[in-house]
Amino acid sequence: MTAVLGIETSCDETAAAVVGEGAAGQGVAVESSVVSSQIDLHAAYGGVVPELASRAHLELLPLVVAQALEQAGRRAWPPAPVDAVAATAGPGLIGALLVGVSEAKAMAVAWNRPFVGVNHLEGHCFAALLDHGDLRWPLTVLLVSGGHTMLVSMAGPGRYRLLGQTVDDAAGEAFDKVARFLGLGYPGGPAVERAAAGGDPAAFAFPRAMLGEGLDLSFSGVKTAVVNAVRRHPGASNEDVAASFQQAVVDVLTAKVLRAAAESGGQGICLAGGVAANGALRAAVSVAAGAAGLPVYLPSRAMCTDNAAMVAAAGRWQLEHIGPSPLDLPADPNLRLPLLA
Ligand code: KG4
Ligand code: ZN
Repeated sequence: MTAVLGIETSCDETAAAVVGEGAAGQGVAVESSVVSSQIDLHAAYGGVVPELASRAHLELLPLVVAQALEQAGRRAWPPAPVDAVAATAGPGLIGALLVGVSEAKAMAVAWNRPFVGVNHLEGHCFAALLDHGDLRWPLTVLLVSGGHTMLVSMAGPGRYRLLGQTVDDAAGEAFDKVARFLGLGYPGGPAVERAAAGGDPAAFAFPRAMLGEGLDLSFSGVKTAVVNAVRRHPGASNEDVAASFQQAVVDVLTAKVLRAAAESGGQGICLAGGVAANGALRAAVSVAAGAAGLPVYLPSRAMCTDNAAMVAAAGRWQLEHIGPSPLDLPADPNLRLPLLA
């Protein structure tokens, strides 16, 4: 019956959520999930300004937490509205992380309940588990966010093996840089996806780096190719460029996750992280996995981008299987996914 309040403030979303026991003891139930985006705050700068993000988290977090408790029908306390408080402890922007970690610790102490520090990347891996109770292990997870691009074999919650990763830019970073170059705005991923909807994905043959080799990935070449193509063809439509770029990235990600599953004995494919909200990627991976006879687990789009329900779910599992975190656990901007030896 453990209900966990989750807090996420690693970047530019201020989020809080409550998760509890799923129906008939199956998985977890999301009782509430509130995300306050700072998009308007950072849009004028074309990207996230760390100091502005921290200040906005400070102002917004108490309101977002109150709303999450309210929506979960958990306003009434003492003794405590929830059984534990979990917060993203890293990786992310240090000032932003500190706001969430400090507030979570303070609430845990005030309510005399355990505190759990959650790895943001592990949180993303839990997003698919929120909607699907009957997963078959190991899952092949394609984790694609603004700062990370990894292929992970997940033998179960907390059991991760790294299969491959980007050797340069993250996939989300490539979307953001291309969007900025084309003047499509911030955040880049959704802007590129919108522009791509009206374009021809075959208009430009952008490179599919490392397509035929191994499980590592590279996205800095395709970004440079976009810049060079636009300089060579100043009349090219943004829609065609966006569609061709998106197709190149989707082709590579799809081929790599299928290869990763085949090579590691994956029993299903799971997408996680902000780029997993991309409709073209979701469709391409679904088709390819279907052809390979593998089930695909797609978190809802809202659970792909940063949210606190995934943090609460990971924190709830951690509390039950590993235990609470010490109150002097630091926020760590460079925290890595804990991998099996
Ligand atoms: O997981 P996330 O919300 O935050 C990080 O942990 O980084 O991922 C954010 C990244 C950004 O680079 C954003 O442009 C990208 O995910 N993104 C998308 C889409 N929505 C968000 N990329 C492609 N298509 C989308 N629809
Ligand atoms: Zn994230």
